[in-house]
Amino acid sequence: MSTRTPFVGGNWKMNTRLESGRSLAREVVAGCDGVADVEVAIFPPVAYILPIAGVLGKTDSRILLGAQDCSSEPDGAFTGEVSAGQLADCGVSVVIIGHSERRHVIGEDDDLINRKVRAGLGEGLTCMLCVGETLSQREAGETDAINEAQLRRGLEGVGPGEVERLIIAYEPVWAIGTGRTATPEDAQDAHAKIRGVLADLFSGDAAAAIRILYGGSVKPSNAAELFAQPDIDGGLIGGASLNAQDFLAIIDAARGIKKGGGGA
Ligand code: 13P
Repeated sequence: MSTRTPFVGGNWKMNTRLESGRSLAREVVAGCDGVADVEVAIFPPVAYILPIAGVLGKTDSRILLGAQDCSSEPDGAFTGEVSAGQLADCGVSVVIIGHSERRHVIGEDDDLINRKVRAGLGEGLTCMLCVGETLSQREAGETDAINEAQLRRGLEGVGPGEVERLIIAYEPVWAIGTGRTATPEDAQDAHAKIRGVLADLFSGDAAAAIRILYGGSVKPSNAAELFAQPDIDGGLIGGASLNAQDFLAIIDAARGIKKGGGGA
């Protein structure tokens, strides 16, 4: 039976400046000293990936360096884009793909997201595919269908050997940056259904090993009850990751929640 090490990511989005980002990273590093039972990643703005890599590299910290997006293409005439290989060169090991802000603000579709997933995996990165429904889709009872469609399209062509480098983040769009959080029961229900789709796409064993994170207004005050759910393996944190004390408290809530097997 596989066990899943909890994972907590801090998605800084387009926040921080060079010095405030460096000092936030230093505080997270200091606060994670001795935390070996949670995988922690920070996702700074792409402009600061190298300086933040410098902060992480100066310690024996196990904090992973992440990117918030990557190009679907390996190289070439794509002004403004950054390829997965270029990110890997800078020390990035995990990349967020299909975040709701890229889907709904920038306009990315499942086909582009799928090509990005395959580009990231192809360069050896861990890919964190984000899925989640809008408020109107939730109210129409379409949550599970939307998650399933985004998973099936986003993961098309992913091989069995790449599954161990997949993480899924369930981020209901209506809960992101709004202060509204899915109830632990609703989030668990969505996560269990997601794990079922992963079992169908890959295998029961593979699905049991994939971390499924919850994202959407996770705070120190609600993290523990969300993370206590059997299919919630940690969180992808936006606003609260910009405050080191809050982010560290959320990491603390993920300690000791290692889960195994169930759900699929
Ligand atoms: P908030 O935690 O600010 O709601 O953002 C969630 C998110 O989008 C993480 O990727």
